[in-house]
Amino acid sequence: MRFDTVILGAGAAGMMCAAHCGGRTLVIDHARAPGEKIRISGGGRCNFTNMHAEPANFLSQNPHFCKSALARYTQWDFIDLVNRHGIAWHEKTLGQLFCDGSSKQIIAMLLAEMERAGADLWLSTSLQSVRRSEAGFSLDLEREGKRHAVTCANLVLATGGKSIPRMGATGLAHDLARQFGLSVTETRPALVPFTFSDGRFRDLSGVSVPARLSNARASFDEALLFTHRGLSGPAVLQLSSYWREGESISANLIPGLPLFDTLRDQRQTSGRRALTTELARHLPARLVDFLKPGLGLRGNLADQSDARLTEICAALENWHLTPTGTEGYRTAEVTLGGIDTDALSSKTMEAKSVPGLYAIGEAVDVTGWLGGYNFQWAWSSGHAAGTAI
Ligand code: FDA
Repeated sequence: MRFDTVILGAGAAGMMCAAHCGGRTLVIDHARAPGEKIRISGGGRCNFTNMHAEPANFLSQNPHFCKSALARYTQWDFIDLVNRHGIAWHEKTLGQLFCDGSSKQIIAMLLAEMERAGADLWLSTSLQSVRRSEAGFSLDLEREGKRHAVTCANLVLATGGKSIPRMGATGLAHDLARQFGLSVTETRPALVPFTFSDGRFRDLSGVSVPARLSNARASFDEALLFTHRGLSGPAVLQLSSYWREGESISANLIPGLPLFDTLRDQRQTSGRRALTTELARHLPARLVDFLKPGLGLRGNLADQSDARLTEICAALENWHLTPTGTEGYRTAEVTLGGIDTDALSSKTMEAKSVPGLYAIGEAVDVTGWLGGYNFQWAWSSGHAAGTAI
C-alpha cells in the first residue's frame, strides 16, 4: 500500500500535521484512541495554549530553533481554529486557556480537520520495522494481528516523549531518529514533582501556599503544594525543568508580603498575640506548626526584637531545600530533551540529512513551560511539517 505521508503517532502534533498535509496521508498509533494525552490534560479540560506563548517559554539546547514555527502558527491561529469549531473556552490564570466543556472537544476538532484533509487513521497499529527504500520509506505495520507493507515518501516522527509510559509513551521517535543517524540530546523527566526520601513533608500533605521557587537558572511565582512524597504544585513543576540532581532550591514562602512591617505593626497593637498565631494569619497554620521547631518560633509578638523579626522573615524568604530526586517519567508531564534540533530544519522540521523524514512535537528537543506551552509547540511544529509536505 502506498501513501505520500505516514505519520507515526496520533497525538497533538501528529493530528495537527495530518490536518495540513497534502496528498494521501496515513496516521498510525498503537493506542486504541487518538490524543489520549489531550483527553487527560488540564484536568479533562485541556489547557490548549497560552496567550503569552513566546520562544522564551521553551527550553532547548538551541533556544532559537522554536522561533520560526511558533511565529508561523501562533496561539492566535489555534484560538481561531477553536473558535471556528464553536468550542467555548476561558482563561484560567497566567494566560492559560482551557475548554469550558471537555478536552474531548479538541480531539474531535482535530479528527474533523484530519478528515477534511482526507487523512486515514489506523489505531491499534504498531510499527514492526522501517527502512529507507526507493519509494522513500518502507514500513512493516501490524494492525490487529495483520501485517501491512506500506511505502511512503514522507515519514513523520510524532510519537511524543517518554512521559507516562502507562499511557503508551515510548521512546520510538528517539530510537528511529538514531536509526536514521540523527542525534538525540539527553532526555529527562520534566514538569515533575520533587521527592524527599525522608518523607519530611508527610504531615503537611495537601497544604498549598503561594511561593516563589528559585534556583540559579530560573524563578517561578506560583503555588507550592506539599505531598506525601515531597513537593508539587505549579511552582515546583516549572522549576523541575531547570533542576539537576544534587542541587538545592530556594523557596520564598512570603513573596510580595510586607511581613516584617506587618509583624512590627502587630507587635505595637497586639503584643500579647503568640508569634505563631500571627504567622498563621499569613501562612497556612499547618505550615507554621511544621516550621516552628526549625525556626524556634516561640513567645508573643512583644517578645520579638526587630533583629529577631528580620531573622524570621529572612528564613521564610529563603528556605533552602535539596530534593532527593523527582517522581520520574511515571508522573512527569513532559520529557526534556529529544531529537537534536541541529539535525532538523526549523522551518519545516525535516531532517537535514534524510530528505522526507520529519520530527515534530515532544519528540524534539523543545520543551515548554507548564501552562499550555507544550500543546502550542505540538500545534506549531505539526503545522510547520504539515504545510511543508
Ligand atoms: P503525544 O504524547 O500527544 O502523542 C504521541 C502519540 O504517539 C500517542 O498517541 C501515543 O499513543 C503514540 N505512540 C507512542 N509510542 C508509539 C509507538 N511505539 N507506536 C505507535 N504509536 C505510539 N500540555 C499542555 O500544553 N497543556 C496541558 O494542559 C497539558 N497537560 C498534560 C497533562 C498530563 C497528565 C500530561 C502527561 C501531559 C500534559 N501536557 C500538557 C503535555 C502534552 O500532553 C504533550 O506535550 C503533548 O501531548 C505532546 O504532543 P505530541 O503529539 O508530541 O505527543
